[in-house]
Amino acid sequence: MRKKVIAGNWKMNMLPNETIEYIENFSKLVKDTKNEVILCVPYTDLFYALMSAQDTNVKIGAQNMHFEEKGAYTGEVSAQMLKAIGVEYVIIGHSERRQYFNETDETVNKKVKAAFENELKPIVCVGETLEQREAGETEKIITTQTKLALEGLTNEQVKNVIIAYEPIWAIGTGKTATSEDANNSIKAIRNEIKNIYGEDVSENVIIQYGGSVKSSNAKELFETSDIDGGLVGGASLKSDEFAKIVNV
Ligand code: PGA
Repeated sequence: MRKKVIAGNWKMNMLPNETIEYIENFSKLVKDTKNEVILCVPYTDLFYALMSAQDTNVKIGAQNMHFEEKGAYTGEVSAQMLKAIGVEYVIIGHSERRQYFNETDETVNKKVKAAFENELKPIVCVGETLEQREAGETEKIITTQTKLALEGLTNEQVKNVIIAYEPIWAIGTGKTATSEDANNSIKAIRNEIKNIYGEDVSENVIIQYGGSVKSSNAKELFETSDIDGGLVGGASLKSDEFAKIVNV
């Protein structure tokens, strides 16, 4: 049985004092959950989040990283740097990064490899645009993105990847994919992984749904056969609401 992994993606929100206050409240609310709980926070909040989450079951992740270990890349942060302060997870290839910051399938793949080299667990995002969906290309787009993101990884590494299926038209729009639709897309991703890495890997890999997840729709989504939790943006900014999703 795969466990549920619920990750919050704060995006470019929250200051250090808000982070500390949030985690103080949130960690109490989710202390009894069997689900894995992750907060992916801005770089400037990481240290405060790690301190506040000590001795709790809340894990901390970053939202991006560079694939090089070090060097002349002004403004960038490497996997090694994240690992050194105790970060455990990192979101890679979020659609906002693909859309606004030139992230490609190739850089996503390089980052996933660099994350594993530094013992960080990658949360790899894939998802189709509305146009691609309307053209009937959803399955092709998301299976190709998955294949390219994981290229060159060992079976053991792929087993430890978290994939977040996030249809771009559902992100921040209030529109959620129906649970049946989201489950079918996630099944297609799992099947692609089975074809390349075998059933043992595909049955173990965690695949989340993301896109306007909230406490009112989380139960229905998470109850499906293949959705192993969620990557939650807007609804993770309020600790009470996010705790409801984790405890659903
Ligand atoms: P949303 O964002 O929950 O606000 O739609 C999800 C995400 O972008 O990860």
